[in-house]
Amino acid sequence: MDPVRIDVSTPSRTYRVTIDDGALDRLGRLINDIRLPERRFVVSSPLVWRFHGVQFGRTGVTSEQPILVPDGERYKHLATVSRIYDALTRVNADRATTLVTFGGGVIGDMAGFAAATYLRGVSLVHVPTTLLAQVDSAIGGKVGVNHALGKNLIGSFYQPHAVVVDPLLLATLPRREFRAGLYEVIKYGMTSSASLFDRVAKQRKEIFARTAAALTPIIAESCRIKADVVATDEREAGPRRILNFGHTAGHALESVTKYRRYRHGEAVAYGMLVAAELARGRGALAETDRQALADVIASLGPLPPIADLSTSHILEAMKHDKKMVAGRLHFVLPTTVGATTIVDDVTEKEMRAALKQVGFKT
Ligand SMILES: NC(=O)c1ccc[n+]([C@@H]2O[C@H](COP(=O)([O-])OP(=O)(O)OC[C@H]3O[C@@H](n4cnc5c(N)ncnc54)[C@H](O)[C@@H]3O)[C@@H](O)[C@H]2O)c1
Ligand SMILES: [Zn+2]
Repeated sequence: MDPVRIDVSTPSRTYRVTIDDGALDRLGRLINDIRLPERRFVVSSPLVWRFHGVQFGRTGVTSEQPILVPDGERYKHLATVSRIYDALTRVNADRATTLVTFGGGVIGDMAGFAAATYLRGVSLVHVPTTLLAQVDSAIGGKVGVNHALGKNLIGSFYQPHAVVVDPLLLATLPRREFRAGLYEVIKYGMTSSASLFDRVAKQRKEIFARTAAALTPIIAESCRIKADVVATDEREAGPRRILNFGHTAGHALESVTKYRRYRHGEAVAYGMLVAAELARGRGALAETDRQALADVIASLGPLPPIADLSTSHILEAMKHDKKMVAGRLHFVLPTTVGATTIVDDVTEKEMRAALKQVGFKT
């Protein structure tokens, strides 16, 4: 397949996303072409390094020891970022340093934050290794960590200098992680691209076989959508909010289950169902479109249960959402497959009805 190149232009930086099967093997050249500082360090996790470290080593990107830190969500805090600073300080890394992140969203967010803050900023390249990171977290410049009292409370906007996506790296991803990323692809389809939505619905078998031919187009289209939105709204003041479709109820679901029961994408899948139900309830979305969304989500496989979670708990958690602006919850509603609207007048009654309809306990 031909490589896909997408340029992301933001006020703070313009950078290229390259999507290409086997791109990892060409990483050295890609980095040299944009003349990033030659003292380079890779930040990865022991698990990702075990699978792909040898191949990374062959790229010749760096002869320095890899900086390996744990990458579960529960390690996404400042203490782990400190370990990255420690490693950099120990070898006297100066401003002429490039950090290459090699892992899922957790590694990208943590090492990205380290790159943004070490000596007030060094060069950054993301090489995402989960589907979620390839279609979402590696683009857009949001970096940061969790605080004991809340997710992603500490962070910054720091755009990378390049993003290199190799779909072949997904071969080793556990099936559940792979599916979790696919729900975000469905999100892009539902908000912005009916053709992407249809592709996921129709090519499910090929996508699950993880061939580059099936993955490259859906990753590329997702990246294009994210890049467009980020370019118009780097700091998520307006249009970027449409990518929060499914995330209001999704985040609430993650928070009431303490981030243990669902993968982020799974919670978003439920969140999209809630938003679609809400939209249908107020006549903004046709029942056939709501059903199409429910069908494609169901076709990917079962989601962890929700029937024991009460509607009131979810509602309570939503009230703490970061997307509250002046006391009103901004809610992204689908209007058809491929388009949305943002409303701020969702009533508690409507929300309860939608949650109940999706299967939460009353
Ligand atoms: N910055 C953003 O804009 C943004 C957007 C969305 C999500 N996020 C963040 O991303 C994080 C979730 O990212 P994630 O879903 O990638 O999770 P993750 O980084 O925790 O990775 C999931 C698991 O997959 C493993 N893994 C990674 N690549 C692998 C591979 N190729 N083969 C086998 N195993 C592999 C990891 O070791 C980990 O155990 C969350 O912390 C979320 O807040 C950030
Ligand atoms: Zn998400």
